[in-house]
Amino acid sequence: MNRRTFLKTSAISAGVVGLGGIALTAGNTTTVVETPTESVPTTSNSDPFALQTVTLNINGKAYEVGVEPRDMLNNILRDGLGLIGTKRPCNRGECGGCTVLIDDVPHMSCTYPAFRAAGHNIITVEGYNMPSSAESKVLNAVQLAWVQEDGGQCSGCQPGQIMSATALLLSNPNPTLDEIKTAMSGNICRCGNYAGIIASIQTAALNLQGGSA
Ligand code: FES
Ligand code: FES
Repeated sequence: MNRRTFLKTSAISAGVVGLGGIALTAGNTTTVVETPTESVPTTSNSDPFALQTVTLNINGKAYEVGVEPRDMLNNILRDGLGLIGTKRPCNRGECGGCTVLIDDVPHMSCTYPAFRAAGHNIITVEGYNMPSSAESKVLNAVQLAWVQEDGGQCSGCQPGQIMSATALLLSNPNPTLDEIKTAMSGNICRCGNYAGIIASIQTAALNLQGGSA
């Protein structure tokens, strides 16, 4: 029995529960708790690796895409749809550079199975101009503040930082310094530009409240 045959046989034996186990291993505990097992796409044939068509709602638009159970959301965004604003610096859930919002909660897209995002509201760093959208309003303010305060240096980490900052200000419009540090703790900046990042978030919060920086 070769490796692929073994994997197929194992997956078929495990069925849907087994696929849920794969998601648990590939993702993190938070995302697994949020998504019920029944959202795992079922196959119409016996091939657990078959493409499934799902609808991803990204920045206010619906995209019909084919995904395998093992496809991560980051791959679909960047390689499938050309939404390359979302980065993939480490591709193993360590840096936060691939962060996107799913129902206004920040998630690392490199470890988030694409099929689990189906039917949810996905916002990427490109989603700053959706009309009448609270997320867009905050994201736009954060991006402008980033320019104002030099939030980026090489900018490799910035899309992820900006999305985590947007999630913070959506849930907490007036965060303290400690709350900012806690909310941003999953986002690594190799350039060490943390002072600029924090200043950007504080300025965005001020501007959103009608104040001046
Ligand atoms: S690329 Fe996803 S956490 Fe680093
Ligand atoms: S600005 Fe260079 S990694 Fe953050």
